[in-house]
Amino acid sequence: MITHIQNRIAGLTYRAGKYPKKYHKKIKPYIAFTKATLSNPRSVGAACPSSPFLAKVMAEQVDVKKEGYVIELGGGTGRITRALLEHGIPPDKLITVEYSPELARHLREEFPDIQVLEGDAGKLDQLLADSGNPPQHIKAIVSGLPLRSLPKSTVKAIKKNVYKLLDDKGLFIQFTYDLRTSSSQKNKFRLIDSSVVYRNIPPARVNTYMKRV
Ligand SMILES: C[S@@+](CC[C@H](N)C(=O)[O-])C[C@H]1O[C@@H](n2cnc3c(N)ncnc32)[C@H](O)[C@@H]1O
Repeated sequence: MITHIQNRIAGLTYRAGKYPKKYHKKIKPYIAFTKATLSNPRSVGAACPSSPFLAKVMAEQVDVKKEGYVIELGGGTGRITRALLEHGIPPDKLITVEYSPELARHLREEFPDIQVLEGDAGKLDQLLADSGNPPQHIKAIVSGLPLRSLPKSTVKAIKKNVYKLLDDKGLFIQFTYDLRTSSSQKNKFRLIDSSVVYRNIPPARVNTYMKRV
């Protein structure tokens, strides 16, 4: 069954190449997202890409004037990536990490000016070291990762990396489909902002944490 669906999507991808450029550009992210979902549903963990409204609220948490890099985890189709660039993060100060090869390829094509690292955000320190030019200062980590559906060991490794790599008082911005208010995470982070974005499928809560010194 899955193979049948994958073949259908492969056919769609082929036909998409024959559509006028503007239609191809519009459906391409959805094809990449569906392919990634079919090959690893737990890892994608969402019914559809983040809405531009959710992406904007996430991006606006980052202080553009502050020095340092912004790392995006789980770049996916690039909705949050685009919002970060539109918010004013310079392309050479933005690095996105994506596990799915399909979506990493899509991100590279869509954003040739930013660095796209393909791999597991739970090994972020290694991925950055292997990139040859690891950032000295990381002011914010913006995550579109489905933390509630990823294996516990992966989530633990991701949180450990986020804490280790962020500057003091750096921000960790994460959205969740759990709309209840959250508390700060084990004293290492302080919740400094939390709001619900209803214009997303499903509605999501954006939590902004500051690393405690
Ligand atoms: C909710 S989806 C994408 C959200 C994205 N903002 C969008 O609109 O397309 C989560 C993304 O996280 C990626 N992902 C899941 N586990 C990951 C991991 N351990 N490391 C890096 N990326 C991961 C998935 O492949 C997927 O693209």
